[in-house]
Amino acid sequence: MLATTTLAEEILELKQERKAILLAHHYQEPEIQELADWVGDSLELARKARDFAGDVIAFCGVWFMAETAKVLNPNRIVVVPDRAASCSLVDSCPVEPVRAYRRRYPGHVIVSYINTSVEVKAESDILCTSRNAVQVVNSIPREKTVLFLPDRNLGGYVQQQTGRENMKIWQGTCVVHATFPARRVAEARDAHPGAKVVAHPECPPPVLALADFVGSTSAIIEWCVKNPAREFIVMTESGINHSLKKLAPEKQFYFVANENCNCSECPFMKLNTLEKLRDCLRDLEPRVNLQADLMRRALVPLERMLAVK
Ligand code: 13P
Ligand code: SF4
Repeated sequence: MLATTTLAEEILELKQERKAILLAHHYQEPEIQELADWVGDSLELARKARDFAGDVIAFCGVWFMAETAKVLNPNRIVVVPDRAASCSLVDSCPVEPVRAYRRRYPGHVIVSYINTSVEVKAESDILCTSRNAVQVVNSIPREKTVLFLPDRNLGGYVQQQTGRENMKIWQGTCVVHATFPARRVAEARDAHPGAKVVAHPECPPPVLALADFVGSTSAIIEWCVKNPAREFIVMTESGINHSLKKLAPEKQFYFVANENCNCSECPFMKLNTLEKLRDCLRDLEPRVNLQADLMRRALVPLERMLAVK
């Protein structure tokens, strides 16, 4: 306990010295969230990174989020606690097949989820996050064919919500959400009758069909806080429990284990620790370094996304 307090103080001192901002995703460990200047979903964190005027962005999330921060604010130093914090969706979508698709179908509109590498972003027409994916796809003229990548569950959800027929969907999945079984949601409902079900759109269609609300991590938190129900079955990574308990301490939140790890934790997000956060602020490594031309090309679809209302 004493060690943790000392470490936290060290981080706050380094943060001041470095003129740094600490951005944390909702899936980070509670002790990291507690130190962060801002905790949010991918879209909120991208906006915070873009608007930061200090020197260093310490990004506690996964690598693609830090890359996005660098593209949006290239004059800042962007560091991460652990360079190995990837994402199974990023890993499911290498850039070469995307380039080949683009060559073969130059008239199609490539909509990429923000959970992609910067190289894939640079080949995309517009990006989206789980918060704005429906609006982004609705902003594309209906006669155009869309390739949505890489998450097949988010893609399927967007297709259902927009009623869009001419939409092709990549077959990537999230290692955490895609293995939530609908059967376990039904069991949780039986155990807690009256509980509302909330789900992230990366969950498979049978889970989404049982949900009272589908949205991004921050949207799920906002919905649970406002909703008059007192019990919620939460179909996303259990890191969001920290904000849920802080904002609605009188309510009960139940997390369902998936079939991958029999847990609901993202193995990539959980690589980050306070020690590694301290080290990255001290050493300014691991650091995001991207070629200027790559950043310029990835910025175009990012800015298009941020312009969608
Ligand atoms: P959010 O944008 O909803 O925070 O989602 C990011 C993510 O990686 C979900 O698994
Ligand atoms: Fe990627 Fe899934 Fe982890 Fe989100 S929860 S960062 S989509 S692996």
